[in-house]
Amino acid sequence: EFIKNLHGLVETEEFIAQSLGLKKVIIVPGNSDKDGTVKKEMGRAAARFIREILFPGAVMAVTGGTTLREVAATMPVGNAPHEITVVPARGGLGEDVEVQANTIAAIIAKKLRGTYRLLHVPDNLKEEAIRLLATDQHIKELVAEIKSADILVHGIGNARELSESRGDSPEETEELISQGAVGEAFGHYFAADGSIVKNIHSLGIRLRDLRNISTVIAVAGGEKKAAAILSVLKNNHEDVLITDQGAANKITALI
Ligand code: G3H
Repeated sequence: EFIKNLHGLVETEEFIAQSLGLKKVIIVPGNSDKDGTVKKEMGRAAARFIREILFPGAVMAVTGGTTLREVAATMPVGNAPHEITVVPARGGLGEDVEVQANTIAAIIAKKLRGTYRLLHVPDNLKEEAIRLLATDQHIKELVAEIKSADILVHGIGNARELSESRGDSPEETEELISQGAVGEAFGHYFAADGSIVKNIHSLGIRLRDLRNISTVIAVAGGEKKAAAILSVLKNNHEDVLITDQGAANKITALI
C-alpha cells in the first residue's frame, strides 16, 4: 500500500473503478510491456484476490494466456476452502499447451487442493462440428457446469495480436480490424465502445452467461493493451480489474 500511494496508484484505482462501474481495481506498479516481472506481480495480485473470495464448493472458470499462466504460477499451495472446482472457461483457442485454459485450470485446482474438469475441443472446428460435440452428454454436463461458474477469471488480448496468433489469414485479420475490433476476451472481439464485433466459435462461457456469474475478474496489463482492456470493460460485465500501472495510466487517459 505504501508503494502504491507513492505512485498515486490508489487514486487511479478509484478513478477507474468509478468511471467504469467496477467494484474493485487493483493496480501493480510498472509496465509489463517493458518489464517481465510486472506480469508476475499482476498474477500474484490476482491469485491473492482469488484466495480471498473463494468459498467452499465454488466453481471457478479460467481462460488461457500468459497472464493467466502467472496467476496459476503464483497461486499459493493449500489451505483453500473445500471442494473448489476449476474449469476452463472455453474450449481451445489455438494456444501452446502451457497457456491453455485446461492447463491453467488444472494447475490452479491442484494448488488449491480442489478438483478440475477439462474441456477438450479442438481448434478451428467448423460450426456444425461444434454443434455436434455440444450434443454429447459428457460435454453437455461440463458446459453446463462451466456456465454455472461462481467466479470467472479471464485475460484480455489485443484484437490484432489474437487474430494473428489464432492463425487467421491476413485478410481475415484486416477485416476484423476494419470492423472496429480492438480487444478480445473469452471468445468475443470487442469494439472501442464495448460492442461485439465477432464471436469465435467454441464451447463454454459466452457473454450472455456472465450476468449469472457473481464475480467476473479481468487480469490484463501493459500499456499496449490499454485500448483492448477498455473495449472489454465498456461492455459492462466485469466486477474486478487487476492490471498494471502502464495500462492503468493509459486507460485513465482514454476514459
Ligand atoms: O484472452 C486473451 C489473451 O489470450 C490474453 O493473452 O495474457 O498472453 O496476453 P496474454
